[in-house]
Amino acid sequence: MATQITTGTSELRDITKMERIGAHSHIRGLGLDDRLEPRENSQGMVGQAKARKAAGMILKMVQEGRIAGRAMLFAGPPSTGKTAIALGMAQTLGPDVPFTMIAASEVFSLSMSKTEALTQAFRRSIGVRIKEETEIIEGEVVEIQIDRSLTGATKTGKLTIKTTDMETIYDLGNKMIDALSKEKVTAGDVISIDKTSGKVTKLGRSFARSRDYDAMGADTRFVQCPEGEIQKRKEVVHTVSLHEIDVINSRTQGFLALFAGDTGEIKPELRNQINAKVAEWREEGKAEIIPGVLFIDEVHMLDIECFSFLNRALENELAPLVIMASNRGVARIRGTNLYSPHGLPPDLLDRVLIVSTQPYTSDDIKHIIKIRCEEEDVTLTERALDILTHLAADTTLRYVLNLISCAQMLAKKRKSEIVEEVDIRRVYSYFFDEKRSVEWIKEQQHRLVSEEGVDFEPASKPTGKAPAQVEAMDES
Ligand SMILES: Nc1ncnc2c1ncn2[C@@H]1O[C@H](COP(=O)(O)OP(=O)(O)OP(=O)(O)O)[C@@H](O)[C@H]1O
Ligand SMILES: [Mg+2]
Repeated sequence: MATQITTGTSELRDITKMERIGAHSHIRGLGLDDRLEPRENSQGMVGQAKARKAAGMILKMVQEGRIAGRAMLFAGPPSTGKTAIALGMAQTLGPDVPFTMIAASEVFSLSMSKTEALTQAFRRSIGVRIKEETEIIEGEVVEIQIDRSLTGATKTGKLTIKTTDMETIYDLGNKMIDALSKEKVTAGDVISIDKTSGKVTKLGRSFARSRDYDAMGADTRFVQCPEGEIQKRKEVVHTVSLHEIDVINSRTQGFLALFAGDTGEIKPELRNQINAKVAEWREEGKAEIIPGVLFIDEVHMLDIECFSFLNRALENELAPLVIMASNRGVARIRGTNLYSPHGLPPDLLDRVLIVSTQPYTSDDIKHIIKIRCEEEDVTLTERALDILTHLAADTTLRYVLNLISCAQMLAKKRKSEIVEEVDIRRVYSYFFDEKRSVEWIKEQQHRLVSEEGVDFEPASKPTGKAPAQVEAMDES
């Protein structure tokens, strides 16, 4: 293979997409105990016990590396916690297992083909844990001696470094002198030098020298002089995703593209080369594959081409666990005239494990409202909490959660720290929920601008009233 595949890990910092959606910031995990039983109210999660347990079981299998290339679908009415549970899963997985979250519609809005966008999402969700051995020089600096030439263009020097057992003198080149002076290394510092990259790290000051200087900054760290050999081999482990390796190695892009997020399309040949290289590393015991999780929210927004791509991609050897969520019942499969449960084609449905989320009881709703109030730093009176709980049963959980911060705003205007019944009543009159909005629109129908043929009452068939009136007018 001609191309050199690198992982770029020495430069790569943590660039995982930060996901902090306000609506779910109270979710800190799935709230399960060690036996995977859902706790009543834990880590911001309430109720929805079966779905949470199912999610926990799947996670356990992912963590043990037992499954990959499987798919799971959360199906249920709006605001029953599908997205919340997925985010809880992400939090439970820990930093080393990749979790990618996309909304299905993102696939259409990027400046690349749908399948490329999905492929990138898949490869983002596969981690490669790479073990690298590097040689380091570690010890306490005894002396640094630098000689500059008359013009200052060339520098030479000597570094004397010791451990408790030995002492060695190294000749220093230009680059090394620059690195040492940049870190302001002086005698008495304990340093570590990476031999391959030449990176100098200051570990602290030696205890033996602690009495030499009285005026030390408060942040000065004292460490013991290292023992044993000066040159050591050290194993470092880092995890990168396949997608990151792709981007770093695509010549037109380079790893800066990762920070810009503008990665464009990546050639399939390059991906094949990378797969082959990773397989080689695996055989040599240098790398380990960590299948992660890909979450596709609102999955019914994908179209038939994406679905057939998913069918194939799930069977790929390097496939993550794919979790999908949909709030549709029987719906049209995008890109066809066919109707199917959850808007997913039957052959894909056949491959997924379906977990359903149930509507919440009023006790659960009360708990969720309480949790959100803590998160948003809002204090409610008991009465206000009861009203909100009642309201949620009539309207939706989301509507009520949105009212909380608005009510707090009104309370503050009254110069009260506590949200009371009157604040809730006022925001309720300011902001409509969907039901009231539709009713109001129906009342105002003759004044609103509408497109011909739009029916404001989706449940009923067009009444045909309007044409009848027209006819009547014609007759008169
Ligand atoms: N079990 C739960 N515990 C705590 N909070 C929850 C729970 N379920 C849902 N929530 C909160 O309720 C709100 C609505 O839930 P979520 O967005 O997860 O619904 P959804 O099922 O994804 O709905 P949609 O189908 O409309 O996308 C969110 O703010 C979420 O954090
Ligand atoms: Mg959702």
